[in-house]
Amino acid sequence: MSGRDHAVVTGGAGFVGSHLVDDLVADDYRVTAVDSFASGTPENVSHHADDDRFSLLQRDVRDPLPDFDSVDVIYHFASRASPTHFDSHPIEIAMTNSLGTRHVLEAAVEHDARVVVASTSEVYGDPEVHPQPESYRGNVSPRGPRAPYDESKRFAEALSMAYVRKHDVDARTVRIFNTYGPRMQLDDGRVIPNFLSQALAGDDLTVYGDGEQTRSFCYVTDLVDGIRRLADRPGLQGAVMNVGNTNEITIRELATVVRDVVDTPSEVTYEPRPTDDPDLRCPDVSTARERLDWEPKVPLRAGLAQTADHFRTRRHEIVGSTPED
Ligand SMILES: NC(=O)c1ccc[n+]([C@@H]2O[C@H](COP(=O)([O-])OP(=O)(O)OC[C@H]3O[C@@H](n4cnc5c(N)ncnc54)[C@H](O)[C@@H]3O)[C@@H](O)[C@H]2O)c1
Repeated sequence: MSGRDHAVVTGGAGFVGSHLVDDLVADDYRVTAVDSFASGTPENVSHHADDDRFSLLQRDVRDPLPDFDSVDVIYHFASRASPTHFDSHPIEIAMTNSLGTRHVLEAAVEHDARVVVASTSEVYGDPEVHPQPESYRGNVSPRGPRAPYDESKRFAEALSMAYVRKHDVDARTVRIFNTYGPRMQLDDGRVIPNFLSQALAGDDLTVYGDGEQTRSFCYVTDLVDGIRRLADRPGLQGAVMNVGNTNEITIRELATVVRDVVDTPSEVTYEPRPTDDPDLRCPDVSTARERLDWEPKVPLRAGLAQTADHFRTRRHEIVGSTPED
């Protein structure tokens, strides 16, 4: 076995996890992706198949992590993240983020490993403070249809802080705001895959509500850069940081930009908004700026063009519409 540091990425065959795997392998880590393939796919990391620094294990984090010889850092990214899955797989999601996080933290205790827990802007719910700083405690419905995701992510944060205090685990939390890029599933229900799929097929783009709700979209390589800085900087035990793009845009404006980037004749149609869909979403990233020297770099149009290229090659999978997230 080489003397390389060993990074474990749960959810490593997913959208964000696979980009994280790319970054870690490029940095010469020995990387193990642990994934149940619930919403990810081995194809997302198949380009590492012949690299002896990389291995992929099909495993559900609701079961304890496999026995590893040593682990230096665990990136805990396993969890379905698509709003359509909040309806179809609520218990699986709740248990992945609760019991699954416990298994990750137990492995961290065993190996004295650092942990980065993937949390979400959903911990802010439908926010009454805008933009949202890390100190904002959120406005989440504990009983609504999004609760199994939102509340289990809040629990994952609470549990990781319990392990910081009780077992001195070096756990850090990243609160991820809407991120997009290649390897998103075309049918995953988030607004950018929806719009791109529809635009590439020449179908009308579906906007839920009047389209005045806002989001801030971060390109995946910018997110991965922030995650790696959060993991690598010393002295951040117990830290929580928003990572996302602050360039806020209405969904109606986004539809216009997508139509432009794809150069499609598609029109826009309007449908009712789903329950608990937040009005506003924009991160306050001053903590990441100050403590990580992090700044997102990829402009929306450039990121959308990259993502559209990726989706073009998967046109046969293109499907219809779902909610905005
Ligand atoms: N993409 C975003 O905009 C966004 C925003 C906020 C938070 N996040 C968080 O980032 C992480 C990755 O999200 P993503 O967008 O890449 O989603 P994704 O669905 O593409 O990736 C999640 C991965 O986790 C795997 N997984 C799910 N449940 C599992 C389980 N029980 N055991 C093992 N593997 C399991 C899936 O198969 C998939 O490969 C998630 O924790 C998500 O909550 C993402």
